[in-house]
Amino acid sequence: MKSEKLTIHTLREKKRAGEKITMLTCYDASFARLLDDAGVDILLVGDSLGMVIQGHPTTLPVSLDDMIYHTRAVARGARRAQIVGDMPFMSYQTSLDEAMRSAGRLVKEGNAEAVKLEGGAQHAELVRRLVASGIPVMGHIGLTPQSFHQLGGFRVQGREDDAGRRLVEDARVLEEAGAYAIVLEGIPLELAREITSVVTIPTIGIGAGPFCDGQVLVIYDLLGMNEEFKPKFVRRYENLALRIRTAVDEYVQDVREGRFPSEDESFSRQGGRPARKPASVSAIALAGGCAPAPSETEAERPIPSETPGAFYSTAKPKD
Ligand code: KIV
Repeated sequence: MKSEKLTIHTLREKKRAGEKITMLTCYDASFARLLDDAGVDILLVGDSLGMVIQGHPTTLPVSLDDMIYHTRAVARGARRAQIVGDMPFMSYQTSLDEAMRSAGRLVKEGNAEAVKLEGGAQHAELVRRLVASGIPVMGHIGLTPQSFHQLGGFRVQGREDDAGRRLVEDARVLEEAGAYAIVLEGIPLELAREITSVVTIPTIGIGAGPFCDGQVLVIYDLLGMNEEFKPKFVRRYENLALRIRTAVDEYVQDVREGRFPSEDESFSRQGGRPARKPASVSAIALAGGCAPAPSETEAERPIPSETPGAFYSTAKPKD
């Protein structure tokens, strides 16, 4: 697998070469490391974190500070993937100056390498200004969750001819304004195919069919973290909800029944393997009055990984 950093230029090259682009949402450093290792091209710190991390019913309550916090964490965990930070609701709609400041903070404080914003032609001037300031912009059209109330819910967009034509025009205007890629969310596959052929920048689909230049999913949906959420466009590659419950149930039983932690999972005064505790008087009585004596060599053998004084070792953070 190639290890160079993914940039807006590599992504454009991928479209030219007909190579599919992979994008996943990501909200913390541990997932960033794993997704990056697996070769994902773009890690989107989506404002979907308002729903899957914070537990809100929509993305609307997410603040710019929330986005900066999570983007920073993701940027620490990734090496190769491009880091895109979502501009949250009302961080760019009030004025151009406010929008520039918000995007600047996502890049300066969050270490985002690009920002994503929802909407088409109405943001052309903002996209132009951001790009002129050196901030790459990913557009997002179709089902734009920040317009939840305006759209009347999470509904497929662009089914009617007029609405479809407006989305094609939005994509054209975003490209012309300098956007380097566009997310197409919740639109018919025929429309996504048309938009993908009309623009020279990559399109990245979610609920937009197979003809986009790339695909994105919310990582928690792909991993099956919420068994109640299974929309048509999501493919579950795991059932982590079940696996997590099973693992935690085992942990709970082990703690309750005294199987965790074992002595091998404990520290001793001398920094080696803990000396075996003599069996309790009642245990000796139950065993017929004779508890096995610990072997001296076992009790004194140091555990190689236990450095005296170290509780656990950590990698040095990037910042
Ligand atoms: O916030 C998000 O996760 C997104 C993707 C679903 C495209 O915008």
